[in-house]
Amino acid sequence: MNVSVASAESLRTALAGVLGGLPPSQAAKSVERLIAHYRGTTPTDAPVLRDRADVVAYAAYRMPATFEAARGALDALRDAAPEWVPGTHTDIGGGTGAASWAVADAWDGRPPRSTVLDWAEPALALGRELAGGVLDAEWRRERIGTALRLDETDLVTVSYVLKELTEGDRAALVAEAARAATGAVVIVEPGTPDGYERIIAARSVLIDAGLTVAAPCPHSGACPIEPGTDWCHFSARVSRSSLHRQVKGGSLPYEDEKYAYVAATRFPATPAPARVIRRPQTRKGLVLLDLCAPGGLERATVTKRHGPLYKQARDAEWGDPWPPAEEA
Ligand SMILES: C[S@@+](CC[C@H](N)C(=O)[O-])C[C@H]1O[C@@H](n2cnc3c(N)ncnc32)[C@H](O)[C@@H]1O
Repeated sequence: MNVSVASAESLRTALAGVLGGLPPSQAAKSVERLIAHYRGTTPTDAPVLRDRADVVAYAAYRMPATFEAARGALDALRDAAPEWVPGTHTDIGGGTGAASWAVADAWDGRPPRSTVLDWAEPALALGRELAGGVLDAEWRRERIGTALRLDETDLVTVSYVLKELTEGDRAALVAEAARAATGAVVIVEPGTPDGYERIIAARSVLIDAGLTVAAPCPHSGACPIEPGTDWCHFSARVSRSSLHRQVKGGSLPYEDEKYAYVAATRFPATPAPARVIRRPQTRKGLVLLDLCAPGGLERATVTKRHGPLYKQARDAEWGDPWPPAEEA
């Protein structure tokens, strides 16, 4: 493996390098405190990540998962805009840099220069250390608030940050991200009902600012999900190293990270014709696909009679465009 290239594996290697220096009991204590924070209400007046033990614990506990979630959202953006390559990237509330690793991995031939902004200095310091020799990134202390002004940048990412902000700061941040982005804005949140609600609110701000939704939706019109009845979210498989298992507990070799996202562009993109919004159900001789389509939510039943489409339906995964793009 080339450790100077950003990938899930090189991130894991970098994490193993820093976690080794932390006594397991201290890592476990910091993880417990973080879990309590992320399950409850995150304070909005001071950083949660206070010291090196906190950020090492955060990185080991969450970074592989937030990396995969951001990667999933970026893949969908790339499907909708395969020719577009960002030259500059700003990662707001970037913390230890998971989304910046995902961006570098998504455009691995020509990763953009990233600027990571966060108010937690220990997170920036660890991010800088993990990224050494891998990411082309600047790490800068910055408080998100109504006074935040961003430099113009091709791509903005905001990954797992909105929950930590007051409602006013949230809307102001998304509007400022939309103003500064010359190309695209990608926002990722946990795949929970409230994470989805924050994504829907952010989506409206992006559309009002003149951007077009590239993914996951097939259009920039109103979301067809009736508020309170369901929530749009996706799932990313995260393989866990033994080190990750040690910090996080459990014995499975993987976990599924649920996330919600929106990717919107200033340039014309080609959204999916429809998207698979649940795990497909495979029965004998047929596949049931729950889709978000231009006309709203629908269920497609694909049977052997559909010929090659049936094989494609059997291969379809939650989050995929439907029908799949023709192979070039
Ligand atoms: C859950 S972490 C996500 C980190 C990273 N984006 C990721 O995907 O792993 C939230 C980050 O937002 C930062 N943050 C929260 N409120 C902030 C604020 N008002 N100003 C700047 N950063 C903030 C935190 O310090 C933390 O690094």
